[in-house]
Amino acid sequence: MSHEGHYREAHPLIFVFTHWINLLCMIGLAFTGFYIHYPFFAGFMNGARTIHFTLMFILLINLTSRVILAFWVKDANQLGSKAVDTDLKNWLPQEENKHQFMETVKYYLFFRNTRVISAKYGALQKIAYLATVPIILYMAYTGFALYTPAQSWGIWPFFAAGVSFFGGAMGIRIAHYFGMWVVILFTMVHAYLAAIDGFKPLWGLIFLWRES
Ligand code: HEM
Ligand code: HEM
Repeated sequence: MSHEGHYREAHPLIFVFTHWINLLCMIGLAFTGFYIHYPFFAGFMNGARTIHFTLMFILLINLTSRVILAFWVKDANQLGSKAVDTDLKNWLPQEENKHQFMETVKYYLFFRNTRVISAKYGALQKIAYLATVPIILYMAYTGFALYTPAQSWGIWPFFAAGVSFFGGAMGIRIAHYFGMWVVILFTMVHAYLAAIDGFKPLWGLIFLWRES
């Protein structure tokens, strides 16, 4: 079965690229983060921390680029049409998404048989994808509050406020660790929902950049 959004115009190469960078950073940050939290084998602490500190900057540069590109790159944001328009429209409410939130939830929970036809992103996708921005910013905030070099930065008081908010160094560490589970949960649900339409569009368009 073919779905309307699975063509190249809806998935410009640059966004396949930013998604890959994001995914690889997340895998690396979660792995090294796990290790920093609980070194489950010996002798990798320096490596884990160096990788974590490198990937965190790449993640933030990637996020910034993705947000800026949303204003410049055009892609197809109407289902069933290859006409392109600014990507930013995918991130704002669209006429096609009105009153669809509950219908989409019903479909995913098997209370509705037919899929909800909407814009390029459904109501739920819009909310979930937008939520990745504050989630990453939360990780950056709690992360830099743990990052010793940040203590000599001019904006340190901004992070110090978070340290006292979470009740000290251990508190902010737990807050950052908790955020990892939010990211992992998001990714599991997101990857599941991305796959229920079949693997062909997923692998073809998002991972390998092929026509499906
Ligand atoms: C810009 C984003 C991030 C920054 C600035 C950051 C920064 C840091 C810093 C400074 C530490 C302490 C390391 C040490 O001193 O040994 C740390 C630990 C950790 N990070 Fe991140 N990180 C970021 C993103 C992430 C992400 C996305 C994840 C998971 C998906 C993650 C998971 C962890 C975990 C689990 C720990 C160990 C916490 C603990 O000891 O319980 N980090 N991070
Ligand atoms: C197993 C891992 C993953 C799979 C299979 C996957 C799959 C997908 C698919 C199929 C799309 C639709 C692309 C589109 O229509 O533009 C997408 C988009 C998206 N994914 Fe993932 N993803 C994964 C990991 C992640 C992670 C770890 C994050 C962030 C924490 C993430 C955040 C996003 C965002 C924000 C979008 C919107 C894309 C954009 O326009 O930039 N994904 N993903």
